[in-house]
Amino acid sequence: MNVLLIGSGGREHAFAWKLSQSPLLDKLFIAPGNAGTEAYGENLSIDPLDFDALKQAVAKNGIELVIVGPEVPLVKGLKDELSSSLPDVHVIGPGSSGAQLEGSKAYAKEFMGRHGIPTAAYREFSSGQLKAAHTYIRAQSLPIVLKADGLAAGKGVIICNSHDEAIKEIGEMLSGKFGSASAKVVIEEFLNGIEFSVFAVTDGRSYQLLPIAKDYKRIGEGDTGLNTGGMGSISPVPFVDKQLMQKVEERIVQPTIQGISNEGLDYRGFLFFGLIQVNGDPYVIEYNCRMGDPETQSVLPRIQTDMMEICLAVAQGKVKNLKITFDSRTVASVVMVSGGYPGRYEKGKEIMGINGVSDSLVFYAGVKKEGQKLLTSGGRVLAVTSFGSDMSQAIQTSYQQIQQISFDGAYYREDIGFDL
Ligand code: AMP
Ligand code: GLY
Repeated sequence: MNVLLIGSGGREHAFAWKLSQSPLLDKLFIAPGNAGTEAYGENLSIDPLDFDALKQAVAKNGIELVIVGPEVPLVKGLKDELSSSLPDVHVIGPGSSGAQLEGSKAYAKEFMGRHGIPTAAYREFSSGQLKAAHTYIRAQSLPIVLKADGLAAGKGVIICNSHDEAIKEIGEMLSGKFGSASAKVVIEEFLNGIEFSVFAVTDGRSYQLLPIAKDYKRIGEGDTGLNTGGMGSISPVPFVDKQLMQKVEERIVQPTIQGISNEGLDYRGFLFFGLIQVNGDPYVIEYNCRMGDPETQSVLPRIQTDMMEICLAVAQGKVKNLKITFDSRTVASVVMVSGGYPGRYEKGKEIMGINGVSDSLVFYAGVKKEGQKLLTSGGRVLAVTSFGSDMSQAIQTSYQQIQQISFDGAYYREDIGFDL
């Protein structure tokens, strides 16, 4: 079967690597892909939001399965468009109705409310309601969390430590700080706990869990500084034991899938639960309608089941009988970024030493090829991913191997896993 994978990050390199191991795969296409994905298939230089070009490529290349990596095309209706013009093509990723779980925070909060799913207390406000928002903010304890309703490339969540800061911030958000994404704002109670990521595949009726993971979003050690696209990840997560997972399944995963089914949302794909444990109980911070990055880089290596088999079960509505087996070892990924990221950074630095990495996988994100050279082409450049019999061994191997790799200004956090 010919497959089209959409996206260009480390997550997509990891997917291409995993898909390439499947005897069910004939040819893999990646749109647009990166210097890592091209080892496993043909990169097509098509923007993931150019739906017409994607449809043409699917038809022209006899593609029967499309796997969508990032959220923006899903929220904008790529699945709906593909299914209406090419009904025989399987799409892994929800239609726009299901993708609202990520595309609108207000929608997700209302959905959780309807299905009794534990999450932070909140209220939503739109631009006509600034005064009411001020009154609400003044009545809340601190810190207080402000969230742009729509997609804001991971920047739309602001945690305020004073009422004055929150009042200033909501004024800016409602008057367009994040464009139309902040035309509505969710004001939410701050939950104090430790975060983890749970992933499921679903056909909209049944689900199977994938390995759990934890990611490290902040640029600085000790989880300080600005938020990034992700500086590292670990799977599994030691504090997430059987008891906690039982609560996660009963209180969060099952009612979510039941809600999707009862409300008739179009959902065949990956579902990512961003969770936080507070006093032993799990709460939902957010839903994502796709896999996480850089969690995928640590999760996929632990999945022993054929990824094509998983995707076909999802597409054909056969998730109930799907058996997914995991490698019991730990996987740790450390992300190497360009100096200055997530602020301004330079691109085009030559990357040296990747061939010297022997005990780890290297998943590319912002890497491009120029002749024989590999050059940086983004903020997050690559991830070094390693297995270990336990967490500290996996982390140690990634740190040993990352030292082989260098480029001008390279930075990585040296404390991935510090809080576990
Ligand atoms: P998001 O962009 O929704 O992933 O949110 C970014 C980060 O903000 C999350 O990973 C959390 O660390 C933090 N966050 C979001 N909502 C809350 C909350 N209600 N309480 C505490 N932290 C939060
Ligand atoms: N790692 C978090 C995300 O992919 O949104």
